[in-house]
Amino acid sequence: MEETSITNCIDDLCIAVVGAGYVGLTVAGFFSELGNSVTCVDNNYQKIENLKKNKIPIYEPGIEYLIIKNKKRGTLSFSHSIKEATKKSDVIFICAGTPSHSDGSPDLSAIESVVEQIAKAMDNSYRLIVEKSTVPAHTGKKIKQTICRNNPAAVFDIASNPEFLREGSAVYDIFHPDRIVIGVESKKAEQILTRLYEHIKAPIIVCDIETAEIIKHASNSFLATKISFINAVSNICERLGADIRKVSEGMGLDKRIGKDFLNAGIGFGGACFPKDLDAFIHLAHTVGYDFGLLREVKKINEEQRKYMLKKIEDTLWIIKDKTIGVFGLSFKPDTDDIRNSVSIEVIKLLQKQGAKIKCYDPRAMDVAKIVLDKSVQFCKNIYQTAKDSDCLVIMTDWEEFKNMNLKKIKKALKQPVIIDGKNIFEHQSMKNLGFIYKCIGKD
Ligand code: UGA
Repeated sequence: MEETSITNCIDDLCIAVVGAGYVGLTVAGFFSELGNSVTCVDNNYQKIENLKKNKIPIYEPGIEYLIIKNKKRGTLSFSHSIKEATKKSDVIFICAGTPSHSDGSPDLSAIESVVEQIAKAMDNSYRLIVEKSTVPAHTGKKIKQTICRNNPAAVFDIASNPEFLREGSAVYDIFHPDRIVIGVESKKAEQILTRLYEHIKAPIIVCDIETAEIIKHASNSFLATKISFINAVSNICERLGADIRKVSEGMGLDKRIGKDFLNAGIGFGGACFPKDLDAFIHLAHTVGYDFGLLREVKKINEEQRKYMLKKIEDTLWIIKDKTIGVFGLSFKPDTDDIRNSVSIEVIKLLQKQGAKIKCYDPRAMDVAKIVLDKSVQFCKNIYQTAKDSDCLVIMTDWEEFKNMNLKKIKKALKQPVIIDGKNIFEHQSMKNLGFIYKCIGKD
């Protein structure tokens, strides 16, 4: 009886999204676009004030449009107060950050603090609390315990609904998921979540909470494994004179393998893979399993990141006083996120050896200025970056770089040297144009 009544009035459900990072904002924009009434909360006062004035804190294609549109039509609002958002919501998505401790375990203190505040604000009407952040298995249970401890009268369910959003295409991904994973403990929670996603065409996997949590861990770790695998093969290709791009193509056409995440390069970065890999290794360790495969994935990735520096040294010999033009600062294209960016790491290492750095990124210059030394020259465009540089280093595969006028670049450079960490050009045609062209996985 009770379950029926919840489903019948589900169109009237109010949603709170806690956390206004790239996941929280995308989730809030998505559910409000579907017509739900959404309040997005964050404890960063300035961030919320800016969002109220339509100032979006991140660059993510499509997010600005989604937020402004839904604010205007009244389905999306922003608040500093978890208490206020909890009081008026039936479903609460937790999208708070989970940074890593030094031993690789995730720091869940932000999640705990959010859950305590939610619990204290809950009255005795039913609420569904949903984990969206990537968290270790068993976090669902901890959330439940925390709510019961802080508010024994609370009436609620816990669910896990992990996100699979890629930065740079998060808005597209949330509307076109490959699958929707719903980890629940009750029929009521399952009905609410399946109903919230009813207009999205994708298979829905319903399972228990721990299984949903593991699906997220295992998916990110598997993708990271694919990247490290292909990077390891790229090393062999270089030594044997083979071409990694063809190897990837040849492997990827096998439907059992698939072509995605087989691009060799400078190793993976960002806020997810390195952290999630550590978290899964740590989780396995805590339950008595040594996940040696993932430790190797991590090691290969760390070596690959250093390998880019070695390539630059091998090509230029003495780094001191050389001018190096760096294309790309974000950890991947279509984002301004520089967390765990290989480019930033390599720039710092080159500077230690006395290199003069010029750089350009279509979106990440402002954030990079905060973390990079003042001596770095931030250029207006790719051609200004190339001007009088001893070599160009490509660190992010932005579309703009793939379309550059190579003749103009060659003229601008002091020496026609390009070291391409993302394999955006074809090896032979670059040589035909007269470049000394070094890439990954083809000597
Ligand atoms: C990743 C996952 O792809 C998402 O499904 C997941 O939701 C997200 O983490 C998360 O846990 O929140 P993201 O880190 O935004 O998304 O970006 P990816 O597109 O996965 O790229 C990660 C890194 O791998 C980047 O540094 C990228 O350059 C690198 N990469 C990717 C490669 O080196 N080769 C490839 O073939 C693909």
